[in-house]
Amino acid sequence: MSALDFTPTSTTRRLGDDERARILAAPGFGTHFTDFMAHARWTVQDGWAESSVLPYGPLQLSPAAAVLHYGQEIFEGLKAFRHADGSVWTFRPEANAERMQRSARRLALPELSAEDFLASLRALTAADEPWVPEPTGEESLYLRPFMFASEEFLGVRASHTVDYYVIASPAGPYFPRGVQPLVVWITDEYARAGAGGTGAAKCGGNYASSLLARRQAVENGADEVLFLDSETHTGIDELSGMNVFAITRDGRVLTPSLTGSILEGVTRASVLRLAQDRGLEVAEQRLVMSEVLEQLDSGEITEMFACGTAAVITPIGSFMAHGGTWTVGDGGSGETTLALRKELTDIQYGRIPDRHGWLTRLV
Ligand code: COI
Repeated sequence: MSALDFTPTSTTRRLGDDERARILAAPGFGTHFTDFMAHARWTVQDGWAESSVLPYGPLQLSPAAAVLHYGQEIFEGLKAFRHADGSVWTFRPEANAERMQRSARRLALPELSAEDFLASLRALTAADEPWVPEPTGEESLYLRPFMFASEEFLGVRASHTVDYYVIASPAGPYFPRGVQPLVVWITDEYARAGAGGTGAAKCGGNYASSLLARRQAVENGADEVLFLDSETHTGIDELSGMNVFAITRDGRVLTPSLTGSILEGVTRASVLRLAQDRGLEVAEQRLVMSEVLEQLDSGEITEMFACGTAAVITPIGSFMAHGGTWTVGDGGSGETTLALRKELTDIQYGRIPDRHGWLTRLV
């Protein structure tokens, strides 16, 4: 049972039907927002309270709000998918709820119960139901829960006031070029997260620390940046916002193990399961970058891909670093990569049976 009640305070839509239809025809990623947002506030005195669904709009925040100075903030990402019968579903939300609780613990923020997390998603998606696209390709409504330190206080300690919001954004493919193979730059200069740090938490700081390396990647002609472990600079960690997989010629599916410095992706866990279901051998292990590059040259590794909620499964076509360029397979989209992608999205859009019980109905 959810303790918080996310009742709408208004039913007046921000945007008209024509404007919404125009946006839904080409949503892009992360640029358009819906009519409403869910909110709850936590205080050290009263715990979670004051929950509602409000009109989407700018927040009023003190310039001294702790988040603006010390970055005490976490977030999640999920998608709402419209099925052929008009119903709206989301994918493994309990995994996001649990990860948000782990992130909250690491960032000294209050935990929100899985029931309240789900109640906020349901209430917002019901209010914004016309914003859930009818998929023609891979459109969905991207849901972005986040929580931050809103106390007006400049002392360094965990905030005594915290705000939680969920906003929603109609989404097409994350990458503007769609499911085209990515060019990935391997940074030898920066690390994303270190031992004992916040790498496993979904906090804004991890993404902030990736931006300079990502900019260098783009300046070098790549789409994305790959980070190595901060201790030895030899093991693969992850991209700026996605986990990484390799598939060998003999059908083994490999991904870096959860060392505490990489994000425990929901898509990552789902891919491991779907690969196992196909009879493929899966392994979570340390992947040494130099060995992976050798195995790309020798043809031992035939496919690589990045994955995350936003990016789904996106093939990696090549790697670049100061020392050269390495092509993955023939540089195109690998067969197993595309098969896993199809199966995952077929489950999400209700086109094949949900044999693992991964879907939760929202509307
Ligand atoms: C997601 O995949 O949902 C994320 O939160 C990653 C972000 C780069 C969009």
